Amino acid sequence: MTLAAPPPARKPSSPDPTAATRLTAALLGWYDRHRRVLPWRAPAGVTADPYAVWLSEIMLQQTTVKAVVPYFQTFTAAFPTVRDLAAADLDAVLRLWAGLGYYARARNLHACAKAVVERHGGAFPDSVDALRALPGIGDYTANAIAAIAFDLPVVPIDGNVERVLTRLHAVEDELPGAKPRLRALADALEPADRAGDFAQALMDLGATICTPKSPACVLCPWAEPCVARRRGDPESFPRKTPKKEGRLRRGAAFVALRADGAVLVRTRPEKGLLGGMAEVPTTEWSAAFSERSALDHAPALGVASKGWRRVPGVVTHVFTHFPLELFVFVASVATDAEAPTGSRWVACEKIAGEALPNVMRKVLVHAGIDVTPGAPEPNQSKPPTRISKPKRSPR
Ligand code: ADE
Repeated sequence: MTLAAPPPARKPSSPDPTAATRLTAALLGWYDRHRRVLPWRAPAGVTADPYAVWLSEIMLQQTTVKAVVPYFQTFTAAFPTVRDLAAADLDAVLRLWAGLGYYARARNLHACAKAVVERHGGAFPDSVDALRALPGIGDYTANAIAAIAFDLPVVPIDGNVERVLTRLHAVEDELPGAKPRLRALADALEPADRAGDFAQALMDLGATICTPKSPACVLCPWAEPCVARRRGDPESFPRKTPKKEGRLRRGAAFVALRADGAVLVRTRPEKGLLGGMAEVPTTEWSAAFSERSALDHAPALGVASKGWRRVPGVVTHVFTHFPLELFVFVASVATDAEAPTGSRWVACEKIAGEALPNVMRKVLVHAGIDVTPGAPEPNQSKPPTRISKPKRSPR
């Protein structure tokens, strides 16, 4: 006769070890059947590569899995190891990152790869504290790498996991104040082994079943114990303290086009928003910006002061802390026009290869310039390809 394996030992922190063991077992059983196949994820039973886990976790900050997959594949093809990434030019890293947003992540990614090589001989450290000490790695990411790549008993808690836990326990406290409570609830569930699978199971549950709207409770391994589902209002969790919205900022962007199709581009300062990324000359972005005086800024930016044509509509973009509207101006300049100090002419076929943030891609498209790789020369008489209606500023 074979004896059933005893349930895994639980950490003493759990308030009700039996209930916690049941919850954990149900979640891990569900994960074994329904785990998502993701390019950075190791197959069942195989230890994950810390480099792949780290790279994916940085890319997944504020970004969806769908958007990250092609970037992850491009990055791992270009830089198969952390040593390759550390040895790369920052510019090459920023170029491959272009379009993924939150560009400070790319600079920190590069700095972190160097630190892993310099401080740890090219191997990611296997402690939360040492991971946390690396550039660009915060509490969540350190916990995620520690759990997924090293099976350390820690639970990374992101927005998805917060949603799952607040629903499971119908936590009425508002976020972010509820965070310490959620940390205690998560720690109480942490299994003695399979920490990496547990972390990823929570992520998958939040992403595929316990979604913000219309959660698929009938398919949920925690449907029965979920207090919010029993009450009938899972969608109302988590409770949140309302955020103050950043004020709308405005500015003007100047697209100077040479007769041969080259575009005038400059590099943003290393520090700050979109640090080190490429842009067409723009004014400051501010709540006080007035469209009427937009052209007054052109001479100070070093771009041609005459011949500007306002492209109808505005380009809108939402940053984490504020929404932005840009008025776009286009001017045709002579082929021998000099680039002002700090700017450069970029041939139209090379523009797609620049480290252009999404907002600048929108500006160029709005100006009628195709930013897809291998695009033909712009037809300067062509109307812009995308026009959005100007928005009224909030009162
Ligand atoms: N979101 C954050 N980290 C993730 C991961 N490792 N897998 C899937 N989604 C995630």
